Amino acid sequence: MLENTKKILEDAKMHHYAIPHFNINNLEWTKYILEECQELNNPVILGVSEGASKYMGGFYAVAMMVKGLIKDLNITIPVVLHVDHGTYEGCKKAIEAGFSSVMFDGSKLSLEENIAKTKEIVALAHAKNITVEAEIGHIGGEEDGVADTLAYAKVEDAVRLAKETEIDLLAPALGSVHGIYKGEPKLDFDRMMEIKKLTNLPLVLHGGSGIPDDMIKKAIECGICKLNINTELQIVWAQAVREKLNNDQEVYDPRKIIGAGQTAIKQAIKEKIELLNSTKTNNNI
Ligand code: 13P
Repeated sequence: MLENTKKILEDAKMHHYAIPHFNINNLEWTKYILEECQELNNPVILGVSEGASKYMGGFYAVAMMVKGLIKDLNITIPVVLHVDHGTYEGCKKAIEAGFSSVMFDGSKLSLEENIAKTKEIVALAHAKNITVEAEIGHIGGEEDGVADTLAYAKVEDAVRLAKETEIDLLAPALGSVHGIYKGEPKLDFDRMMEIKKLTNLPLVLHGGSGIPDDMIKKAIECGICKLNINTELQIVWAQAVREKLNNDQEVYDPRKIIGAGQTAIKQAIKEKIELLNSTKTNNNI
C-alpha cells in the first residue's frame, strides 16, 4: 500500500524531474496533500519530522492514519511515508511502525560516526524494503525547533557516505536552509553536479520553500530528484486561517477553522508540482 522511494526516484532521475516531499502536521494536511496529488496523478512523499510525529501521537498513529486515508480516499498514486531528519532511535521506531522510507540525519556526528550509524539504519531498513536518505554537511535554518548553521557538504565526504553505506538517496547541504530565507539562497550547482556524477544517487534538496523557481529548475538539471517543502504550506495555510478568523467572529467549529486553509494548501501543491514536472512522466512508473 505504501511504496519506498526506489522506483519513483529512479524514474525522476532518468527523466529529469523531481518528486515533491511535503511535510505533514495533522490529519487534515495529510488528506489535502493526498487528494491533490491524486487529482494531479502525481506520486508524493509524505515527510514526518519527529516533532510532528509526537504531535500526532507517535509513528504508529501516523502510519495508521496515512494507511487509513489511502484506503478510505481510494488513493492509487505511489505514496511514500518518510521520516524527516530522524534520529537513530526515531528511525528504528518508524521502521517498526511501518514507514516505507526514513531519513537518518547524522549530520551533527563526525563523518566516521555518521557513516557507521547510517550503515546500521540501512541494514535494518533494507531488511524490510525500506529506503534510506542520509545527510552530509549541515542544512541551515530551523525546523521544528531544531536549528543548525549552514555548512556546505564536501564532495569527498558525500562520496564516502554514499559508497560506504548503500543509502538510496542523499541530501547534501549545498546552500539551502529550512524556514524563511534571508536574501537569495546561494546554491552550489557545480558541487551538486559533481556529487551527482560521483555518487549516481538521486539527490534531495531540503529547504525547498522560498527558493526561486529558476533555481529549482536548475537544481533538477543538476541531479535533484526530491524537493522538500514544509514552510510554504504552513505560511499559506496560516494566512487563510487568519483571514477566516478575522472575517468570521462567530465561527467556532474546528473543522471550519482548520479547513479554511484547504484551498490555499491545494493551490500551493499544484503550483509546486507544475514546477517540478512530476505529473508528466509519472505514467512510466
Ligand atoms: P522548508 O522549511 O524550506 O519548507 O524545508 C522543508 C524541509 O527541508 C524538510 O526537511
